[in-house]
Amino acid sequence: MSFSAAIVATLASSEQGVQRTTRLNESGQSHVLQFWDQLSPEEQAEMIVDLESLNFMEINNFFKTAMKTSGQNSQEKVDTRMEPVPREVLGSVTRDRECLKEWEEEGLRCISENKVAVLLLAGGQGTRLGVSYPKGMYDVGLPSRKTLFQIQAERIRKLEQLAEKQHTRKCCIPWYIMTSGRTMDMTKEFFIRHKYFGLKEENVFFFQQGMLPAVDFNGKIILEGKGKLAMAPDGNGGLYRALGTQNIMKDMETRGISCIHVYCVDNILVKVADPAFIGFCTLKGADCGAKVVEKTNPTEAVGVVCKVDGRYQVVEYSEITLETAEKRTADGRLLFNAGNIANHFFTLTFLKEIVRIHEPQLQHHVAQKKIPYVNTKGQLIKPDKPNGIKMEKFVFDIFQFAKTFVVYEVLREDEFSPLKNADSQDGKDNPTTARQALMSLHHRWILNAGGHFVDENGTRIPAIPSLKDGTDLPIKCEISPLVSYGGEVRGIKAYFNLNINPRVFFYFI
Ligand code: UD1
Repeated sequence: MSFSAAIVATLASSEQGVQRTTRLNESGQSHVLQFWDQLSPEEQAEMIVDLESLNFMEINNFFKTAMKTSGQNSQEKVDTRMEPVPREVLGSVTRDRECLKEWEEEGLRCISENKVAVLLLAGGQGTRLGVSYPKGMYDVGLPSRKTLFQIQAERIRKLEQLAEKQHTRKCCIPWYIMTSGRTMDMTKEFFIRHKYFGLKEENVFFFQQGMLPAVDFNGKIILEGKGKLAMAPDGNGGLYRALGTQNIMKDMETRGISCIHVYCVDNILVKVADPAFIGFCTLKGADCGAKVVEKTNPTEAVGVVCKVDGRYQVVEYSEITLETAEKRTADGRLLFNAGNIANHFFTLTFLKEIVRIHEPQLQHHVAQKKIPYVNTKGQLIKPDKPNGIKMEKFVFDIFQFAKTFVVYEVLREDEFSPLKNADSQDGKDNPTTARQALMSLHHRWILNAGGHFVDENGTRIPAIPSLKDGTDLPIKCEISPLVSYGGEVRGIKAYFNLNINPRVFFYFI
């Protein structure tokens, strides 16, 4: 029996099957069925589930548009159209110190009125870190062995307590967690196993973003197995479609949420629902805001917040030329220095408008990848150079639709240490750097609160201890988020005066 006759015989036995085969033929993607008659009934059933979830004409259109807007020409064009963020939309923890208290109080008030939600983007695959489980489950080797998920959950709990104390009313910060087909089950199981880290189950929601197949440079879907399409999450901007299809905003509305802090899973220092950021955005009347740190190294792998054709946007590190990234102002700073740390503020009204009107207009970004594939003989090939593309939407692509956009600049050492890579010598953004960043911050909290460290003989350790070997800090200091959210001096002093809480860890070496 010929290839296509076999397909028709096995697939077209029902009306649905005929429709499916027709859809594949019409979209030029029928090659995905070339091994159909070699699959077991279970494999066929699994493949049908994948095929049914996809709109092939839509995928072809995504490919055509994405290819048109990517590439060298468009990169050069973006470079020439970029302008830095103007000072008037910027709030800064260093330059606007006198406003910080007011912003924080406003944020705490919003939290105490149950108006604030947090939304975690956790659908990524952690490819660079090289683990097969969701990044939030990663333990960077802190004394407490807490994972990223646990640290974030405890920060939420502490912040609720701080807002409750300030305003003497009970409150809750609901946590919406976006997962993907790759991370959903493991994430949910992890939370169940750890009893939601002390949060109430009804205040933690999991939802799933969409997946898209990887395609070759001609737009043909790549098979990673005889019956398996090479599927990947559709980028963190897949959020907006998922919000629309999974009733998340309805839930937010019912709870009376008015603003949402959206953030990425991998930053160990993330200030979840940061009241100062929320207060700043709210008092400025913003519908959309981005937290940034000063980018100081032109080749650092962070996107920059800027204006393109007069509209706010993040231009990714991979999307500008080195020449543009290296441009400096008269005072020696990088011209494009608003480094995106993937912490965003949105009002619910704004998000609703995005989902209802703008989501279909968001274009996919193209990433060329080495994608394992099966050749026509059914053998798995691992290519050594890019053989196809993944198409992704980005979470910040909606900045362009904001009516009032603001940027909030924070200190890198206080708020940004992402976990991207596995440990390696001279490595960056890895478990060691994340662990050190957190312990160094907590060390500073103690010093700021008037504390000091002593060695095993009771001798005071200098405030700036010298490193014994380049690998770790001489003082290992970790403070549980349940003791302090952001280094509150009063909280830390209260704890130390009592000196009984087992949730603080000090290690001296
Ligand atoms: C991201 C930002 C970049 C910023 C950097 C800071 C985007 C598109 N880029 O880059 O501008 O400077 O963080 O660390 O936001 N994710 C999903 N679904 C997906 C893909 C990713 O939920 O389909 C989540 C990941 O789980 C992670 C976050 O999005 O929490 C960021 O993804 P990642 O691929 O690590 O982004 P970067 O390239 O590091």
